[in-house]
Amino acid sequence: MSNESSAHAATPLDAPTIGLPKDKELVLKVIPMPADCNANGDIFGGWVMAQVDLAGSVVPARYVDGRMATVAVNQFVFKQPVRVGDILSFFSSLTRIGNTSITVQVEVYAERFRSQGRYIKVTEASLTYVAIDDFGKPRKIVKPDAVQVLAAQDTM
Ligand SMILES: CC(C)(COP(=O)(O)OP(=O)(O)OC[C@H]1O[C@@H](n2cnc3c(N)ncnc32)[C@H](O)[C@@H]1OP(=O)(O)O)[C@@H](O)C(=O)NCCC(=O)NCCS
Repeated sequence: MSNESSAHAATPLDAPTIGLPKDKELVLKVIPMPADCNANGDIFGGWVMAQVDLAGSVVPARYVDGRMATVAVNQFVFKQPVRVGDILSFFSSLTRIGNTSITVQVEVYAERFRSQGRYIKVTEASLTYVAIDDFGKPRKIVKPDAVQVLAAQDTM
């Protein structure tokens, strides 16, 4: 057995590898560490949720121009376990912009330890962020023209 094939045998893939999304922006990359594990030895779901919340805030921050808060996690799916040493890539896109809120879709892809360059989707989520004022109350978002077009398309 060659060195190449034995290295491959040592890194079985648990799901088919897929291409990365072309319609979303890479907003975060992070590698989970042993301190982030649950009792099974996989990465704790709450840690993944925290990273998704951070990643999801990147695109809204460009439109909110000030303070914002996460108001809702509309949907959250853990499709595959996340493991220590995975390289996680978080992709995000704007799905709705309202009067005071912005909703984004986040997808997380893992490159397994010793299978770098091959991607597995591990998580997807939808989150809504609200622009808030100094008193923590919802604040109107000023929509650039391009965003207004997107918002109009969203209601069709
Ligand atoms: C965010 C917050 C200021 C919103 O206040 P509110 O009085 O509920 O505001 P409103 O009901 O006027 O809703 C504000 C926007 O949020 C949206 N929203 C409210 N609840 C929502 C929900 N469950 N799902 C999706 N969007 C929601 C509304 O549709 C509205 O959007 P729009 O103006 O674009 O149409 C308030 O709920 C809050 O402070 N929440 C705690 C936030 C926080 O601490 N986040 C961190 C969690 S650890």
